[in-house]
Amino acid sequence: MTGEKTWWRNAVLYQIYPRSFFDSNGDGIGDLKGITKKLDYIASLGVDGVWLSPFFTSPMADFGYDVSDYCGVDPIFGTLDDFDEMLDSMHKRGLKLIIDFVMSHSSIAHPWFTESRSGKTNPKADWYVWADPKPDGTPPNNWISVFNGPAWTFDAQRGQYYYHQFLKDQPDLNIRNPEVVEALFSAARWWLDKGVDGFRLDALQHCIHDPGLHDNPARPLPPPDGKTIPRPYDMQQHKYDRNQPEMIGFCKKLRSLADDYKDRMLLAEVSGTETTIAYTNGPDMLHTAYNFSLLSHAYGADAFQEALGDFFDTPHESWPSWAMSNHDTIRAATRWSPDGRRHPAQAKMLLALLMSMRGTPFIYQGEELGLTESFVPPDQRVDTGLGLTGTGRDGCRTPMPWQKRKANAGFSKAKNTWLPVPDAHMPLAVDMQEKDKESVLHFTRRFISWRKKQPTLLEGDIMFPDGYKNVFCFTRRLGGEELFCAFNLHPESVTLPLRNDIIPLEGHGFAPANKDSGSLSLPGFGAYFGRSVAA
Ligand code: BGC
Repeated sequence: MTGEKTWWRNAVLYQIYPRSFFDSNGDGIGDLKGITKKLDYIASLGVDGVWLSPFFTSPMADFGYDVSDYCGVDPIFGTLDDFDEMLDSMHKRGLKLIIDFVMSHSSIAHPWFTESRSGKTNPKADWYVWADPKPDGTPPNNWISVFNGPAWTFDAQRGQYYYHQFLKDQPDLNIRNPEVVEALFSAARWWLDKGVDGFRLDALQHCIHDPGLHDNPARPLPPPDGKTIPRPYDMQQHKYDRNQPEMIGFCKKLRSLADDYKDRMLLAEVSGTETTIAYTNGPDMLHTAYNFSLLSHAYGADAFQEALGDFFDTPHESWPSWAMSNHDTIRAATRWSPDGRRHPAQAKMLLALLMSMRGTPFIYQGEELGLTESFVPPDQRVDTGLGLTGTGRDGCRTPMPWQKRKANAGFSKAKNTWLPVPDAHMPLAVDMQEKDKESVLHFTRRFISWRKKQPTLLEGDIMFPDGYKNVFCFTRRLGGEELFCAFNLHPESVTLPLRNDIIPLEGHGFAPANKDSGSLSLPGFGAYFGRSVAA
């Protein structure tokens, strides 16, 4: 597949968490006008588009992932006019925009929920998932919230429990009800008519539940990795509360909605490889999905080979998306650091790896600076959810550092920002990295621009050669060309076997590797790209 319809396949996308990008009005919270002001910066990276996390009207219990008006802009972020201006300015610069769409649940403050909870016979009585208590008054079944505790809360007004897979402020919509689907789709059309280029479909696999409300079976926890804090949620097999068979039909409906428009992209957030494939396998399914396999603590050639191998080892038509950092997990520069410290060389190598795998890469704001996870003092923490590794998510959401010497690193003129800008991020600010040609920022630009000129990296098949233990290696193949890509994930230098017909490529930003006949030496956190052509 090539051509305009598939712009997203070869794209590099940049995730903006709007609360923390740039504050234009001095209230300590980032906003849409702030994003518009920084579009030259975003375009300068060479990325093709933006995934923008929620900016919709919301009480902000989950910082926007609890939507109370699907077609409104929360005043914290600005107005619809600000949105239109931002979208227009992005398009003028050739940047696409995909926005988050939260279909699995709304905010408890959504008028739909207010009506639904008002009794058992109102027109929206069945728009959410309601159930009677068990005879002993306890919740209808054993389902657990992703954020811990029962996934059910008793509502005294209606005299029933309502279901919420996340916070109790995020009641699950009943996607089995066609009226609910139509209401959500009409909001989606409203944004598509405005010209957004697609949606990132939040928590998609959570959209449909088992109507029999069967208990989930228990799941033995995997051996501890010493870093991930196991969540009660991880102690169940999610047989009945997510990823129900009807999801396939729902994905098809979503795709058909997008296909009514030209060139729109649907990106699902799902948890595992099997679901990633299932939701995207075929021309009538979603365009692409990302999962959590590179967002956890698992690190190393074996772990990465397993994550990618799981996806590529079976024949299917799915096209993956990949992210190593986002607003839900500890930043990769810290999560995968060998000693807890920042290693710019590692940050560069990881960015290159992210952008060299077959699939669409997503860079999370600040990843292009090699930002580390922030330490947020306990009395300044605000997130009540839980991240993918079982910890709070404030540390990956602190504001972008723009200018080292300005208050709040130039993010905001406010006295206090919604989350503090950590001192450790000051020297990593954009203005400092602009001055340093060896910075992670300059590397990111160089690599993105180099990648655009490598059709084999953009579209080639991916294969994992045997015989590489300490280095993560794969080959990408397109037509007669083969690119051999090697990433030293560790700080120690390493020597690896290399076929003699492989010629090093240049221009990607890594120092030339030391190549002897039949072998290659890679410095700590180094990477190598070499090319061979079939005779
Ligand atoms: C989002 C989270 C959010 C959750 C509930 C996710 O997967 O990325 O930030 O808390 O969905 O909407």
